[in-house]
This record gives sequence, C-alpha cells and structure tokens, in this order.
Amino acid sequence: MDKLVIEGGKPLTGTIRIHGAKNAALPILAASVMASGIHSIDNVPDLKDIDTMMKILNAIGCRAEMREGRIVMDTSGIHSSHIPEDLMRQMRSSIFLMGPLLARFGEVRVYQPGGCAIGDRKIDLHLRGLEALGATIEETETMIVCRAEQLTGTDIHLDFPSVGATENLMMAAAMAEGTTMITNAAREPEIQDLQNFLNAMGANIIGAGTDTITIKGTKELHPEPYRIIPDRIVAGTLMVAAAVTKGNITLEDVNPAHLSSVIHVLRRMGVQITIDNDIMNVSYASRPKAVERIVTAPYPSFPTDMQSQVMVLMSIAEGASVIKETVFDGRFKHVDELCRMGADIRVDMSSAIIRGVPRLYGATVEATDLRAGAAMVLAGLAANGTTVVEQVHHIDRGYDRIEHMFQSLGASIERVKPAAKSKTKRIVLMD
Ligand code: UD1
Repeated sequence: MDKLVIEGGKPLTGTIRIHGAKNAALPILAASVMASGIHSIDNVPDLKDIDTMMKILNAIGCRAEMREGRIVMDTSGIHSSHIPEDLMRQMRSSIFLMGPLLARFGEVRVYQPGGCAIGDRKIDLHLRGLEALGATIEETETMIVCRAEQLTGTDIHLDFPSVGATENLMMAAAMAEGTTMITNAAREPEIQDLQNFLNAMGANIIGAGTDTITIKGTKELHPEPYRIIPDRIVAGTLMVAAAVTKGNITLEDVNPAHLSSVIHVLRRMGVQITIDNDIMNVSYASRPKAVERIVTAPYPSFPTDMQSQVMVLMSIAEGASVIKETVFDGRFKHVDELCRMGADIRVDMSSAIIRGVPRLYGATVEATDLRAGAAMVLAGLAANGTTVVEQVHHIDRGYDRIEHMFQSLGASIERVKPAAKSKTKRIVLMD
C-alpha cells in the first residue's frame, strides 16, 4: 500500500483552487440514474470513491466516463438494480442508489453496508423512510431487497438529521405519487446541492438547507448539465494546513458560508482569515490559542469531518482544548497516532482533552480513516523531522492526490508506492 513521506516544518504558501465536493458528487451521481439519457456533471473530483461509484454505475448498465473533472454518463441502458457485492463493500455510499433505483425501477438489491472505521453506522432511518413511502423491505444478514410498484408521498420525521437518509429519501420521494414532507432533515450544503440538481432535472423540491424539506413527486425527470459545489472539508483541511505550518494560503473557488463554524473556531484560536467572495486567505499570526470546548454536531454546527484536522492545531496550541464528538462513536482513532508524534491528548468517553505542546515530532503513523488520515498529513507537515503516513488509500477516498495539493504550496511530501509483488491482494475499504 502507498505511503506518504513528509519532511515537516515548511510554511505552506501559495494559491490553490478547491476541488468539487465528494459528498455532493456521490448522491448527485446516484440521482442521475432517475433520468434516462445523457448527463454531464462538472467539477467532479478525481477520487477513489468517485471511481467506485462510476464502477457501480457501469456495472448496472450506465456508460460513465470521467474527462477532466466532468463525468459524462448515459443512463438509458440500465439493465440491473442489483449492486454488486464487491463494489458495495468498497464504499458505504453505494446505499445512495437505493432511493433512486427504487424510484425508477421499482426494486433495488443491495448488500448490508455493515459498520466502519468511524463507528456503528446504521441505515435504519433510510429503510424506515423508504417503508413509509410504501416500499416493502426484505432484510437478511447480508442483503436488503426493497420493492415498490409505486412510491407514495407521506410525512417522514427523522429521529436524527442523517445526511444520507435525508438524501436517499429526497431522491425516492422525487418520483413518488403525491407530496412528501421530511422533518428534522439534515441541513448540510450538499443536500441543497442535491435539491438544486434534482430540480434542474424537473423535480419539485423546496426547503433543503432547513430542517423541513417538501417534495412534490414528479412522473419523469430529464438529464440537465450540472456543476458540483466546492468541497468545504478539503477547504477546511487547507485552512488548518496554513495555521499549523505557520503559512499563508489563498483558497479559490471556496464557499465561505459553508465554512462559518470552522472559520469561527479558527479565528478564536488566532488564525487570520480574510474573505473576498469565493476567495479566502488564511495565515498564521502567532501561536494558536486553545479553545475551551467545541462540539461536533450536524450542520450548521462544527462538522465531525473537520474534528481530527482541528485537533492537530489544538495539539500545538497554547493551553488545553476539549473536543466533544457527538456524531460518530468511533472517531478518535487518530488520537493514538497524534500522541506518537508527541501530542498530549486524553480521551474520556466522547470527549478528547488536548493539552497543547510546543511542537510535534515526525513518526510513522497510520491513516485509520479518511479524515484521520488528513489529520496525520497535517501533523506531518507541522512536525519536526520525517513523518511516514501509512494506509494512504483511506485519504485517496476524499482528497484528489493530496501530495500534489500540498507540493503546490511548497510542502516536502512524496508518495512512495510499494515494490511490485507477484500476488495481488484484495483491498477491502469499509468506511
Ligand atoms: C455523511 C457524510 C460524512 C459525514 C456525515 C456526518 C457523505 C457521503 N458522507 O455521512 O462524510 O461525516 O454525513 O456529517 O455525505 N445514523 C443512524 N441511522 C441511519 C443513518 C445514520 O443511526 O439510518 C447515525 C449514524 O450512525 C451516525 C449519525 O447518524 O452516528 C450521522 O450519520 P449520517 O448523517 O447519516 O452520515 P452519513 O450520511 O453516513
């Protein structure tokens, strides 16, 4: 497996454009199967998860091709609504195809996605919502089969504002008969992007971005060219990179409104941030100060997907900070790795207590999941000496060639590929 070798301690400087959002592109690609014809989706990031989604779409009969950030896909030849097991096991987000395939073909077969590196990720809200729309669901230990001759609009209250369940149900309801109202819906910007895409294809949805989404079902949708929003988590990762390396980075094609909770925390820590429409400059001013307590929670609160990266900044800040993680139950795996680099962090149930140290030191560490891996890269960029980050395939799921991204800002970071072996080993990614 690939490794990243980082010589830390170089301040990062320069300008970088933020690539399209993985978490918007995945449901949008899934939603495109609801309209037969040729789709053109722009600003799609070149990531492992996107590649897996394209493989799934091709396996069920689409013809999808990525050309320089644009996916062109013909969905008119779909011949199956059965997602292959090996691909399903590579990416949890395959479950986004449940709503769209059920809506268009009346049946979908998927494999149980199981748990993952960051916690016990149930899909009960997806399934109960589809049932409320009229689907029958047969579950075995390994498979889920959903069937519905006609989905019917209804009121659905989500016990928790799950991003994926909100998206799956919006897609299914877009072609249901009648009106669906989802209450306690998730409010993430990627949900607004999905609403905009579905409406461009002829759906009738209002309310995304609030906790109540109303969907009037439509019989048929049609392909319409679309451009994906910028990735707020990649932007946030780069903001922290500027701060931990004592650098000065300008981000282009960023949506500052999507980052307000991150901007707020970083400013409280003393990071300088200036904003001019979709351009943001982030620079180091002095040693960052601890923040008493931040709590991860659904949007617009502080995103769980930025928790590990901000922990790196806290680990070299002046004073003690606390992060409480409320979204996922297994999202502190990066703590042990950061401690190997000299950080002083203690986990107590769902809180991490971070006592800032003057500096981190290079070590060999593991990317235990996608965002934890990004945090290891940030720690390596900040540390004295050499850091080796292993299990880079996790990072490749969400950052387009992370080493190129940081090299373009002056970092000393190289990808080292393993020596060729005679036998290939199957890689199973579950998060
Ligand atoms: C999405 C994002 C992920 C982000 C997360 C929270 C994508 C592809 N991924 O994941 O990067 O970290 O939102 O912002 O968009 N839950 C249930 N039952 C369900 C569904 C969820 O109990 O049916 C629980 C989960 O176990 C978790 C919490 O709800 O504890 C949040 O999950 P959810 O919002 O669904 O996250 P994802 O859509 O999986």
